[in-house]
Amino acid sequence: MLANTKKILANAYKHNYAVGHFNINNMEIVQGIVQAASKLNAPIILATSEGAIKYAGIKYLYNLTLTASEESKIPIALHLDHGKDINIIKEAINIGYSSVMIDASHEEFEKNIQLTKKIVQLAHKKGISVEAELGTIGGVEDLVSARKIIYTDPEKAKEFVDRTGCDFLAVAIGTSHGAYKFEGKAKLRIDLLKEIKRITKIPLVLHGASGVPKDIIRTAEKYGANLSGVKGVPDSQIKMAINNGINKINTDTDIRIAFDAAVRKVIFKKPKEFDPRHILNPVRELVSKVVEKRIRLFGSVNKA
Ligand code: G3H
Ligand code: 13P
Ligand code: ZN
Repeated sequence: MLANTKKILANAYKHNYAVGHFNINNMEIVQGIVQAASKLNAPIILATSEGAIKYAGIKYLYNLTLTASEESKIPIALHLDHGKDINIIKEAINIGYSSVMIDASHEEFEKNIQLTKKIVQLAHKKGISVEAELGTIGGVEDLVSARKIIYTDPEKAKEFVDRTGCDFLAVAIGTSHGAYKFEGKAKLRIDLLKEIKRITKIPLVLHGASGVPKDIIRTAEKYGANLSGVKGVPDSQIKMAINNGINKINTDTDIRIAFDAAVRKVIFKKPKEFDPRHILNPVRELVSKVVEKRIRLFGSVNKA
């Protein structure tokens, strides 16, 4: 059975740590993440973007996650990331996701409230919890894009939470999606976060939180990637964010980079190799290594 996102995050809220939300697209990524979380006895949230669902199919991703949760002892929740298409959100609710995100952050305040409220009503009827977003996280992904950061206003956040009844709130405090997060020095608005935490009183979510680890970037570049200018959120800032109210941390880019580095390395070093199992096993191992470091950083070891 899939785990309950709300319960997982309620415990994180109570004990001031963060649960890892890891984006999935295929089986090796799921297995790599679950291997790390099982080793560390940590609860995790596996997440599918609308792009992932379009790529792999919702049933495949749902069943991969269900199998993972049945075969392991840790709590594994399944979450819809950045739901924008009402039909996909409804599909996720109907198939049995643990939680969904409604991302109407690109809309003006009242419209965001109305759309979020509607999803909260639909989801809560089935016992599914809802993440919403206020403010704008920067960066560009496949189907998730916003170039400019608009910081979350704490007072508005309180009104938003009260009026929508959402269970978790994604806040914009300076992070961006993707591998190019900061042009200058990395800096999160911890002052805003503290204030939002103080007045909203629900678990807060940090998107665009990948660390873009230098050792993995070096491996990818050694075997042909061009990733100049990439920059992630330093571990010290992640720790500060957790200490000041973040309970769910989203990671996708670090997994993508690990995937890329592992594939490049094996096909460069073994030009005669063409068995997908021999190419993708190192992917699974490197994803697992990267996720293990994230879980340790988040403080969710032994919280299963
Ligand atoms: O937050 C966005 C995730 O990294 C998903 O990106 O739409 O390219 O799958 P995607
Ligand atoms: P990254 O691009 O920093 O991994 O963020 C992923 C994310 O926020 C998914 O919702
Ligand atoms: Zn995101």
